[in-house]
Amino acid sequence: MNLIVAVDNKWGIGKDGGLLLSLPTDMAFFKERTMGKVVVMGRKTLESLPGGRGLPGRTNYVLTHNKNYEAECCVVVNSDEELWAELKEYDSEDIFIIGGAELYNRYYKLCDRLFVTKIDADLDADTFIRNFDRDSDFEIESESEVISENGYSFRFVTYKRKNI
Ligand SMILES: NC(=O)c1ccc[n+]([C@@H]2O[C@H](COP(=O)([O-])OP(=O)(O)OC[C@H]3O[C@@H](n4cnc5c(N)ncnc54)[C@H](OP(=O)(O)O)[C@@H]3O)[C@@H](O)[C@H]2O)c1
Repeated sequence: MNLIVAVDNKWGIGKDGGLLLSLPTDMAFFKERTMGKVVVMGRKTLESLPGGRGLPGRTNYVLTHNKNYEAECCVVVNSDEELWAELKEYDSEDIFIIGGAELYNRYYKLCDRLFVTKIDADLDADTFIRNFDRDSDFEIESESEVISENGYSFRFVTYKRKNI
């Protein structure tokens, strides 16, 4: 299983329920990685997406405790157990955890690869994930050149679980 996220230099990922910023090259990277795959997100992340609906071209799973929740283009699941039962039918390499913090911070333990866009800025986030540079279970597998866009510098870093 994979995790895909964009972080600032404090591992911040969001503010006021939304993203910190939107970088076209990062959006394209996200789209390329996840297109045709299975994406898993929390209810708050779903509601932050355009139109509050699932992402086109992907199989979308959304987690909520609300048993009456309905979301366009999504399979709604109400617990981890229900989610794992659903995901069993897919190749784990095709599954991407796409946020938010609650899901990242819980499910990273089940992920073998983390696709992290590291933005070199302090973007005043109010929502953070674990600092994977300090997690000895992961190592950097690859790192892109620094990309500059809209006045920001960032790079794509892939972390790999050490024991795979
Ligand atoms: N930088 C990035 O790459 C990135 C990517 C995605 C999101 N984000 C940001 O992350 C922030 C949102 O993160 P968040 O942590 O606040 O929310 P979240 O993880 O998106 O959603 C949390 C919600 O998911 C549901 N949930 C979680 N675990 C569950 C379980 N085991 N069973 C049933 N339901 C479960 C609950 O919904 P109910 O309350 O309905 O029960 C919970 O309130 C936003 O600012 C967003 O923009 C950033």
